[in-house]
Amino acid sequence: MDDSELAVRVMIDGDTIAKRIKTLGCAISTYYKDSQQELVLVGLLRGSVVFMADLCRQIECPHELDFMTVSSYGDNTVGGDIKILKDLDSDIQGKDVLIVEDIIDSGYTLDKVIQMLATRNPASIQVCTLVSKPSRRQVAIDVRFLGFEVEDKFIVGYGLDYQQKYRHLPYIGEIGL
Ligand code: IMP
Ligand code: MG
Repeated sequence: MDDSELAVRVMIDGDTIAKRIKTLGCAISTYYKDSQQELVLVGLLRGSVVFMADLCRQIECPHELDFMTVSSYGDNTVGGDIKILKDLDSDIQGKDVLIVEDIIDSGYTLDKVIQMLATRNPASIQVCTLVSKPSRRQVAIDVRFLGFEVEDKFIVGYGLDYQQKYRHLPYIGEIGL
C-alpha cells in the first residue's frame, strides 16, 4: 500500500463532471451530425484517457479513437517544436479531427499539436478540453468544446496527474492543502 499521496480537496465532484460530459457529448454530436467526413477523436496521452473514455460514450455519431503522446514543452518557447513520442495509428487526411485534452494551461502544447496535425490535411481540426485555465494562456487556442474553466491552481484527478499519480481520482481537486 502506497501512502505517499497527499490529501486532495475536491473542486469539481464526479457527478458534476458526468453531467458536463453528457452536455459536451450532445454538443459534439450536433456539431458533427451533418458532416460528410469521418470523425476521429485524437486523445493526448496520458492525461486525456479518463475524459476520452467517458466523452466518447456520450457522442452519438460514428467516430474513431486514436491517441498520440507528445513530449512536454519544458522551457520551449512559442516557436519551438514538440517531439512526438507516439504518433497516431491512423491517417487523418480528409477527416474531421477532434483533439481531446485534459487541460489547457499556457496553450503551447496544443498550439504545436494543432500546427503539426494541420500539415496532414485533415478536413477540420477542433479542440475539446475538460479543463482550461484561461488566466495562464500564453498563446491563443480556439476551444470549441470546453468542460470547465478553473483559476490558476494546480489540479489533479480525472486523468490529471502530479508526478504521474492521482489520475484515477473520480473528481478534480487541489492537492496538499
Ligand atoms: P500547456 O502546454 O501549458 O497548455 O500544458 C498543458 C499540459 O500541462 C497538460 O496537458 C497537462 O499535462 C499539464 N498541466 C497543466 N496544468 C496542469 C494542472 O493543473 N494539473 C495537472 N497537469 C497540468
Ligand atoms: Mg497533458
